[in-house]
Amino acid sequence: MEFYKNIIRPLLFKLPAETAHTFATSAFRNASIWKLWNTINHVTDERLKLSIAGINLNNPIGLAAGFDKDCLFISGIRSLGFGYIVGGTVTLNPRPGNKHPRLFRNTKDKALVNALGFPNVGAKEVARNIQRNPSNPSIISISGLTVGEFVECAKLIDPLVEGLELNISSPNTAGLRIFHKIASFRDLIQNINQTRKKPLFIKLPPYYDSESQHLCFQIIKTSLEEGVDGFSVANTIPVKDTRLGVGSGGVSGKPLFETMVRMVQEIRREIGQKLVINGCGGIFTGDDAIKTFLAGADTVQLYTGLVYEGPSIPSKINQGLLDYLNEQGLEKISLIKE
Ligand SMILES: Cc1cc2nc3c(=O)[nH]c(=O)nc-3n(C[C@H](O)[C@H](O)[C@H](O)COP(=O)(O)O)c2cc1C
Repeated sequence: MEFYKNIIRPLLFKLPAETAHTFATSAFRNASIWKLWNTINHVTDERLKLSIAGINLNNPIGLAAGFDKDCLFISGIRSLGFGYIVGGTVTLNPRPGNKHPRLFRNTKDKALVNALGFPNVGAKEVARNIQRNPSNPSIISISGLTVGEFVECAKLIDPLVEGLELNISSPNTAGLRIFHKIASFRDLIQNINQTRKKPLFIKLPPYYDSESQHLCFQIIKTSLEEGVDGFSVANTIPVKDTRLGVGSGGVSGKPLFETMVRMVQEIRREIGQKLVINGCGGIFTGDDAIKTFLAGADTVQLYTGLVYEGPSIPSKINQGLLDYLNEQGLEKISLIKE
């Protein structure tokens, strides 16, 4: 929708990035407006439907974690045409997040740099928000600084949603790296597996050198040994940025795309076809999604693309996928990766 790029985006981009985000998300408060929008813009087709770990989706485009941290707008945002929403990241107790400023745009690169540090109202309040405003399928991202915090958070959220995504990979939360020690990560998964009834996805840290690659594959190996349903590939890439209140954060958007596709390919090779891969990082177009599926992903997730491309992004990507299915004579979306 050029209206977004020509009118709305320039106005939003005049505001500080976090203010613009708060302003933009409040537009989703009234879900009925977006349901109407959906009837006009939504691209639906049986061939886009798929199931991941038993969760039925109308299409393979997910909103990535972090956009709706308190799960206030899930229903409105889903009406943009997303197949699913990842709400959160939610922690057991409320958190104010890191020192401001903590979100910037790198407009030339079509990127964002954030160091939010999980600001959220805490699992009890989020559970109330989900009950007030249910919209399935939703997967909720949870985190914590101890195994106990993760488990208590999972107990509150798991009964209300269709899946859980464990966030052990945010570069912005001091203390989270404890779960990059494999013994702690194993302990975490074992405890979550005893608690949960819903499918479990692990949000992986990105790799960009041999050390980070080794860590990522150790997390994958441990996850396979303990039992998970899939991986979301991946979180933001850590960077130093003196504009941020805490001096460093994570980059998202276009600069991640090539790295993410390579990761999806290598992880698919490693894990075989059984588990789900959600490719996440720099998805802006139907072509980006197709490249990610060809690399082995089952679904894609996006955040930064929504900020730069606007509310029609899920419909445009879904239309791109349908055009591709027609061109290739494929009967369903899951056949792209085969
Ligand atoms: C402002 C912002 C906040 C984010 N918050 C979270 C979060 O709370 N939990 C999480 O797992 N990922 C979070 N992410 C990472 C995204 O879910 C995603 O992994 C990353 O941005 C790459 O996708 P993209 O290039 O489509 O944005 C955040 C990203 C941004 C830009």
